[in-house]
Amino acid sequence: MLANILSGAVLGIEAYPVTVEVDLAYGMMVFNTVGLPGNAVCESRTRVKTALKNSGYDFPNKHITINLAPANIRKEGTVFDLPIALGILAADGQIPESSVKNTLFAGELSLDGSIHPFRGVLPLAACARENGLGRVMVPAENASEAAVVEGIDVIGVRSLHEAVSYLRGETKIDRAQPIVFEEENEESSLDMRDVHGQPIARRALEIAAAGGHNLLFIGPPGAGKTMLARRLPTIVPPMTFAERLESSVIASIAGLLRADQPLMLHRPFRAPHHNLSDVALIGGGPLSRPGEVSLAHNGVLFLDELPEFKRCALESLRQPLEDGEVVIARAQATLTYPSRFMLVAAMNPCPCGYFGHPRVACNCTSQMVQNYRNRISGPLFDRIDLQIPVDPSFKTDRDQEDTPEDSATIRKRVIAARALQTQRLANTTAHCNAQMTPALIHEFCTLDASSARLLDNALDRYGLSARAHDRILRVARTIADLDGEPQIAMNHLAEAIQYRQLDREVRS
Ligand SMILES: Nc1ncnc2c1ncn2[C@@H]1O[C@H](COP(=O)(O)OP(=O)(O)OP(=O)(O)O)[C@@H](O)[C@H]1O
Ligand SMILES: [Mg+2]
Ligand SMILES: [Zn+2]
Repeated sequence: MLANILSGAVLGIEAYPVTVEVDLAYGMMVFNTVGLPGNAVCESRTRVKTALKNSGYDFPNKHITINLAPANIRKEGTVFDLPIALGILAADGQIPESSVKNTLFAGELSLDGSIHPFRGVLPLAACARENGLGRVMVPAENASEAAVVEGIDVIGVRSLHEAVSYLRGETKIDRAQPIVFEEENEESSLDMRDVHGQPIARRALEIAAAGGHNLLFIGPPGAGKTMLARRLPTIVPPMTFAERLESSVIASIAGLLRADQPLMLHRPFRAPHHNLSDVALIGGGPLSRPGEVSLAHNGVLFLDELPEFKRCALESLRQPLEDGEVVIARAQATLTYPSRFMLVAAMNPCPCGYFGHPRVACNCTSQMVQNYRNRISGPLFDRIDLQIPVDPSFKTDRDQEDTPEDSATIRKRVIAARALQTQRLANTTAHCNAQMTPALIHEFCTLDASSARLLDNALDRYGLSARAHDRILRVARTIADLDGEPQIAMNHLAEAIQYRQLDREVRS
């Protein structure tokens, strides 16, 4: 009397299948769980037994052994309750064994037999499909989230009773419908129309949005740095389906997906406060949660007042910025969370804020200015593609000026530029220019002889690193894409170089 029933567990953002083997033998009544169960899994025995009894099923008076395979990975969480309960009923002949085939089961039971939703159903559903299964049975409240994965039937159940009646063929449950995507129409009260002047900052924001590049605004108080950065979500291109799924899996694990919106439609825009902990920023901790850098995956991480962040927190950004993923070492396993985000940051040039201001005098000593800027290390600066001074150029006489362009108009150009990238980078792991690997840069960012000379000279003159070289080429590619040009020309490259000069100035 052995039954095998499939479930799954999540490690990092990846799910792997777990086979719940249930063996019933004659003998003294015991109930054992083996296969590296965590505490919650051990406690599942009590919940399963009580839920079965309270739902009116016979709890077999036998020697019950549950094995969770593969046995070498520790299993955490409560999602094995449902497969264990169903496995016992199948092994005992109370439900037909054929009815549990080809299906992944996951769900937490409460003592009265009802089934609770859990975090991370999306990766489990994706895992079921990857393993060739045709169906998943999950808590009803998680069903629309799981149904986002195409090509599998999702059965949502509210109670053990409902699950059993369905498997016995006594009741029908319609498979959960994947949600219909509406062309996004996010109501935002913010618009680029509100930002007067600032042509360079506006241009930089457009380039950043088009290619996914990192951006730093530096300027005096009230110049409009925060205002500009907060409007970035109004001009970024929509996410592709692959990007939506990637970001939604992370949000699903963090428990941030709403039941009525199981697939993220908008790029994440994360703006954490500067007093957040390193773990909250990078991820990890006792629960191995994804941090802000991963929650911002495929979107924006906005760090306002950059020098106010703890130096060690900023330093810990270096690795995810470079590799696009965070590696968290744990006793049991090493977890990898993706973290390909755009870093957008804002800072004042000095503690008082007015260093270099044309009209207001700065009252900081040069040592104070230096110390302030040194809070942001050279390697972090090096990872910022667009380093943009924001002037305090505000004019009251706005009638003289044309009405500023609105976000919708800018976004059209951004979408066109991104479409070229999507086409060019199809069949690669990169979604946009900022994510191009050195090999892709070599393939897609070729320069003619005079442009190559220009770049060499700039590297020499400003003492730029090899990393800066690659980053300049990625930005130049985006500027050419905004121009609709298949080849990077001298003017594209020169513009890209110009955005790298701030770190030389402020650090000299
Ligand atoms: N270019 C602009 N066009 C229209 N309004 C602006 C502009 N720049 C600034 N403002 C106005 O000034 C306010 C302050 O701007 P913002 O908060 O973005 O400044 P900041 O550069 O972030 O300053 P701080 O360094 O103090 O954080 C804005 O809310 C807006 O009302
Ligand atoms: Mg600000
Ligand atoms: Zn100052």
